[in-house]
Amino acid sequence: MAKEKVLLLDTTLRDGEQSAGIGMTGPEKMEIARQLQKMQVDIIEAGFAASSPGDFEAVSAIAREVEGPIIASLARAVADDVDKAAKAVEHSKRPRIHVFLSSSEIHQMHQLRKNREDVLEMAVKSVERAKGYCDDVEFSPMDATRTNPEYLFHMLEEVIKAGATTINIADTVGYAIPSATGFGQLLKDVQANVKGIENVTLSVHCHNDLGLAVANSLIAVEFGARQVEGCINGIGERAGNASIEEIIMGLDTRKDHFGIEINADTTQIYSASRMVSRITGMAVQSNKAIVGENAFRHASGIHQDGVLKDRSTYEVMQPERVGVPGNTLVLGKLSGRAGLQSRLEDLGYNLSREDLAKVFESFKDLADKKREVTDRDLESLMDEEKRTATEPISYTLDHVQFTGGDQGIPTATVKLIGPDGDSITDACTGNGPVDAVCNAIDRAIGTDSKLVDFNVQAVTEGIDSQGTVTIRIEKDGRTYTGRGADTDIIVVSAKAYLSAVNRQLASDEESNVPPLGSTPD
Ligand code: KIV
Ligand code: ZN
Repeated sequence: MAKEKVLLLDTTLRDGEQSAGIGMTGPEKMEIARQLQKMQVDIIEAGFAASSPGDFEAVSAIAREVEGPIIASLARAVADDVDKAAKAVEHSKRPRIHVFLSSSEIHQMHQLRKNREDVLEMAVKSVERAKGYCDDVEFSPMDATRTNPEYLFHMLEEVIKAGATTINIADTVGYAIPSATGFGQLLKDVQANVKGIENVTLSVHCHNDLGLAVANSLIAVEFGARQVEGCINGIGERAGNASIEEIIMGLDTRKDHFGIEINADTTQIYSASRMVSRITGMAVQSNKAIVGENAFRHASGIHQDGVLKDRSTYEVMQPERVGVPGNTLVLGKLSGRAGLQSRLEDLGYNLSREDLAKVFESFKDLADKKREVTDRDLESLMDEEKRTATEPISYTLDHVQFTGGDQGIPTATVKLIGPDGDSITDACTGNGPVDAVCNAIDRAIGTDSKLVDFNVQAVTEGIDSQGTVTIRIEKDGRTYTGRGADTDIIVVSAKAYLSAVNRQLASDEESNVPPLGSTPD
C-alpha cells in the first residue's frame, strides 16, 4: 500500500515577510520562489495580494512564472481581498486562495469587534466568493487553538459546505502543547466532530512563541494533519513560524516513525536557508538545527573520534542530505577560470560565459586579499554579484577611506559615482568608523536616514575572512535593508549603507502590510 503523503506549504514569502524589520523586493521574492520550486515544496504562499500593490505584483509574477507548486495568496475574509487574491493568482496553473478569519473570542471581541454569528457569516461568504474564482480554497480559523471547540467545529463545517478544500488549524500565538492530550487531541476532535472534514485536507500552521512550533507540527502529522505550513529558517511574526527545514528533516530522518512520504528535495534546503538569510538579513544562529553553522560540526575529542570512525555515531542525518557543501577543493589566487567554473557548478551556479567572466574578476580581487577562497566565500561572492545585479542602484561606491583609532576623531571620506556618472567626494566625522562612513555618504548624497540596525558576520573563520554586513535604516517611518560583503569592515559598511540608501531612494511604491487581524468594515 502506498504511504500517505504530507503536503508542505511554505509561507516564507508571506508570514515570513511579516518578521519585524524585514521587507523583500519583488525580484528577491521571485528568487526565493524559484528556490522553493527547486526544493519541491507543494504549495508556495507567495504573499498577501491585497496588502500592497508591490505584494500584488510579486504574487502575480510568481503565479505566472513558477510552475510545479500550487501558488497561493492570502486574503482576509472580505470581498475586496478575495478579489485581489484571485486576480493575483489567476495566471498560475495551480492557483489557491487562502482565506483567514479569527475564530477565538479574544480576537472577535477585542480585535474584530464583531459577534460570532456575523463572523461566521463573513467566513462562509468569503469562502463562497473565493470558490467562484478557484477550486482550491484554504480556510484558516485564526487563533484556532484558543477558540471554543464547539464554535470552531461549527465554523469549519460551514466553510467546508461553502467549498473550502483545505482547513488549516492555526496556532497563531504558539499556545498549543505538543502532546496527545494537547494539540493532538484538538486535531482528533476536529476530525471526530466536523462533518465533511474527511473530504478536505487537514493542515496546521504553528507559531513558535513557546519554542514548540516544530514539535506541534510533527505531532499534528501523527494525529492526521496532511498539510504542514512553515517558513525557511523559521522566520515570521514575533518568534517566527515552524521551521520548514526542521519539519522536512524530522519527517525524512524519522520515516520509520512517521511512515509518511513528502515530496521535498532535501538537498536544496541549505541553499534555501542561505538565500533567505542573505535576502532578509536575518542571521541563522550557529546552533540552529539542520542549517546552523554548527549543525554538523563536532568539537569534543570523543565525538570527533566517533565521527572519524563512523559518522553515524553522532550524526542522525548526513550533511549532504541537506545540501551542505563539502569543502573538498579550496581555490586561491593561482586558480583558473575552469577551476572556478567547476566549483561554482558543484555549488549549483551555472553561469553564462559573460557572467563567469565578471565573477572571475571579482574572484581574482578576493583571492588577492585572501589566501584561500572557500565555498562559503564563493557563495558570498555570488550573493554580492546577484545583489548588485538586481538591486536598484543610483549611487555606487568608488572608494572609502577612514582615519581614527582611539586618539583621533573618526573621519571617513567617500567617493561615490552618481546616477549620471558624476563623481561626488565628501567627508564627515562620526562617533565611530561606521557612523563616520554613514554620515559621509549622507552628506555626499544629501540624505539623512537613521541607522537602526547593524549586523556583521564573518563568512569563514580566520583573520582574513570576508565579512557580510546587514544594515537597516529608517526614513519616514519605513525601514530599508542594505547588504554588502568585503574583507574590509569599513568598505563593507559603506557598501551596505549605500545599498540601503539606494533602496530608500528607489522606493515610493512599497507599503506596509496592514495588520492581519484587521478587517475593513
Ligand atoms: O498565524 C496565523 O494565524 C496566520 C493565518 C493567516 C494562517 O498566519
Ligand atoms: Zn501565521
